[in-house]
Amino acid sequence: MRTRQHALLKTYAMNAPIAASTLAQKDVANHFHPYTNLRAIEKEAPLIIVEGDGIEVIDDAGKRYIEGMSGLWCASLGFSEKRLADAAHRQMNVLPYYHSFSGKAHNVVAEVSEKLISLAPTPSLREGRVIFANSGSEANDTAVKLVRYYHNAIGQPQKKKIIARVRGYHGVTLATASLSGIPAMHQHFDLPMEGVLRTTCPHPYQFAKDDESPEQFATRCAEELEALILSEGAETIGAFIAEPVQGAGGVIVPPPTYFEKIQRVLKKYDILFIADEVITGFGRTGNLFGTDTYQLEPDMLTTAKMITSAYAPFSALYVSGKIYQACADASAGVGVFGHGYTYSGHPLGCAIALETLKIYEERDIIGHVRNVAPALQAGLQHYADHPLVGNVRGVGLIGAIELAENPKTRTPFDPKRAVGAHLVRRAQAHGLILRVMAGDAIAFSPPLIIDEKQIAELVKRFGRALDDTMQWLRA
Ligand SMILES: Cc1ncc(COP(=O)(O)O)c(C=O)c1O
Repeated sequence: MRTRQHALLKTYAMNAPIAASTLAQKDVANHFHPYTNLRAIEKEAPLIIVEGDGIEVIDDAGKRYIEGMSGLWCASLGFSEKRLADAAHRQMNVLPYYHSFSGKAHNVVAEVSEKLISLAPTPSLREGRVIFANSGSEANDTAVKLVRYYHNAIGQPQKKKIIARVRGYHGVTLATASLSGIPAMHQHFDLPMEGVLRTTCPHPYQFAKDDESPEQFATRCAEELEALILSEGAETIGAFIAEPVQGAGGVIVPPPTYFEKIQRVLKKYDILFIADEVITGFGRTGNLFGTDTYQLEPDMLTTAKMITSAYAPFSALYVSGKIYQACADASAGVGVFGHGYTYSGHPLGCAIALETLKIYEERDIIGHVRNVAPALQAGLQHYADHPLVGNVRGVGLIGAIELAENPKTRTPFDPKRAVGAHLVRRAQAHGLILRVMAGDAIAFSPPLIIDEKQIAELVKRFGRALDDTMQWLRA
């Protein structure tokens, strides 16, 4: 791999020559960056990654970084899984494109549909269907449309509002950004759209009262949900959407009994449950789905990211048998189910998904996650008493360290000081890529193939960045 990297860098040098800084300049002069401070990047220029090798990525100067976030919670098999590249190559040579509109399908979409249904975590999803898209946003957007389609189909056209949570993250389309409970996703976009209701974020560290146990806080979350439903009118509410573990909102692990109590309320008022498993689907929490980890009974379940180990844009929405049957009847009345993307079930994504799922099984990736997760969780807990650390949490191979100005009183740093962003920059200097989430929570979500030795190295590099940050604050 080293040789390939050198050959690649040599090619850059010969063809232009394109120096590292030139690449960054080219990028910043032409590229409208997503999720970036656009003025800051004009001055700082991006880190240009040119190659992947296992759990590491390599920049255009040849420096290696442990990818502590699997990119964006997604490259589960790391950055150089040849079997996935070969599966893509094979598929592109045989059938690079076909669709599933109006009476067509292709062999790989049929195979991946069967495989996914066989892996569905609950009986009601196993009786249902999967519908494909290209991203988590599109899959969740499809779920929003199905909430409408389904309720119209069953003669409850007023039951359309969707309840989402503070700090939830569900994507960037108009509907899914509206569901997301992160202010920067709304400002200047004139969002959220009508019909979205917001309920409590189940983050005990920030939102539980001083005298409330995690279970009591979970009870309050369910009571607040019920109060919202009653004040709006249950007959107007179609669905509730939640991630088993909130990612972008700060890696929020729900307190014990939370989902049990929430689901009781949803059932009582006949409200659909959409489990957004875009980051938890396929092993992250130590089970195939977060639905298994938290005993959920969703009516729809969104997957993306690790379904292809991120080697191709691909997503799948599980839809229960009850919803599918109602939609099928209604579509027969209209003459067509009027929804689908040109690239729904693209053969490339299907072929890579099939190979990814095969690798998960053959290498027992879930078993591996269970074996190494304690090393990550213990490694993060090692910093629990550090003077900059307010809270450490996690499950499986996902975790967070939330920084605090005063850990004893749970007082966060003023966001303007950008302490978490400083730490992430220092981590990068030490060869570790991390991301900072809402509330100065530093997120960890390494590739699922990471081993214990690599976890120890990741944790050590984080420690250096934490100490640098401490010195910077003192200075
Ligand atoms: C829980 C969750 N849902 C939805 C999305 C949106 O997925 P995408 O970026 O593929 O559109 C994300 C992205 O990180 C996510 O974390």
